[in-house]
Amino acid sequence: MAKDGFKGLGVSSVSNKDTEILRISEGLKVEDEKRIKDSLKSYAKMINDGKTVIFPTETVYGLGADGLNEKAAEKIYLAKGRPSDNPLILHIDRFDWIDKLAYDVSDKAWAVMKKFWPGPLTVVLQKRDVVPYKTSGGLDTIGIRMPSNKVASIFINLADTPIAAPSANISGRPSPTTPEHVISEMKGRVDGIVTWGDCSYGIESTIVDFTGDTPTILRPGAITIGMLKEVVGDVVYDKAIDPKKRLDDENIVAKAPGMKYTHYSPKADVVIVSGEAEKCVNWIREKTVENSKKDLKTAVMCKQENFSLYMENNLSEIYSLGRNNNEVAKNLFKTLINLDDMGYDVIYSEDFTDEGVGMAIMNRLLKSAGYNVQKVR
Ligand code: TXA
Ligand code: MG
Repeated sequence: MAKDGFKGLGVSSVSNKDTEILRISEGLKVEDEKRIKDSLKSYAKMINDGKTVIFPTETVYGLGADGLNEKAAEKIYLAKGRPSDNPLILHIDRFDWIDKLAYDVSDKAWAVMKKFWPGPLTVVLQKRDVVPYKTSGGLDTIGIRMPSNKVASIFINLADTPIAAPSANISGRPSPTTPEHVISEMKGRVDGIVTWGDCSYGIESTIVDFTGDTPTILRPGAITIGMLKEVVGDVVYDKAIDPKKRLDDENIVAKAPGMKYTHYSPKADVVIVSGEAEKCVNWIREKTVENSKKDLKTAVMCKQENFSLYMENNLSEIYSLGRNNNEVAKNLFKTLINLDDMGYDVIYSEDFTDEGVGMAIMNRLLKSAGYNVQKVR
């Protein structure tokens, strides 16, 4: 059954602002840097004036404000309806910010930053006093990342301050990755929105905590455990996201505060259907008929390779997430939001292997399904 409203946490939020919107054409190349820079200046000034501006990154759209300005950071929580114990990530454009924002930065942390930045990776380090507790959600540590999206890096450079930015969704909802989705979700809630096409990865950065003895992945993303191990040797998953443990033990508490909340949820009920493809298709077909008798609209998200199998079995509301895990990651949130807009009540999704970026896909998908997995034998 479709739920009313969002599964947010009821934190107050604003939605009556005059939002200035800048759409940078997707066709605009990096060579057009000067033009992009000129058009971004007034938006960077908004950041310096303590206002909120959404900007594109290579992972998902970010809802930015000056991360060193307590009052500005507070506006982010208000715009998202986000609980204030959930820390923000600082976005920087150059390495010399690290020593200003953090201390006790290990050689391993440096090696990983040098290897994967700019790119979809966040490091958690000990924070210096210059970073307000409002930004770090009351923690003594701070997440920092250097995005590779060219518009993001020009924007941060113009603002000349670390920009705190969570994903630009209302708390609990899937993260917007397209201009249309971010504008429809956030217009009226922020002072400015800058768009530049679709985000190339489509899921949020990998978060690695370097404040303990062994680098620990708090949130999986496009930079995988295998890629990290090649640079620093031993790397572990935080217990709360370990694929072998996550479904068995409800008492495990996530170390990234954001990972404990209901998340990535569309209004529709999402169910992951796991098992041999043909058996899953049969199960889904039966359920779709049952659902339609109850007046519930059903959609299916599948791998491209299985698409024709559904068609052959007279199922028509089928949405391919892509030909490989990279495409699936890029399309996942976009598809969940689109299916919501189309008014589906139930979404059945195939599952994905935990290999490579599949680990991050399953992490997001399981949360959007509220861990509702139907095993079909
Ligand atoms: O790709 C990304 O990281 C995107 C784009 C906009 O850069 N940002 C993003 O931010 O995903 P957000 O706020 O939606 O998710 C940040 C996650 C939350 O789960 C938060 O709890 C965790 O990072 N986090 C941030 N700082 C942390 C810290 N010091 N210790 C542990 N977890 C932290
Ligand atoms: Mg988020």
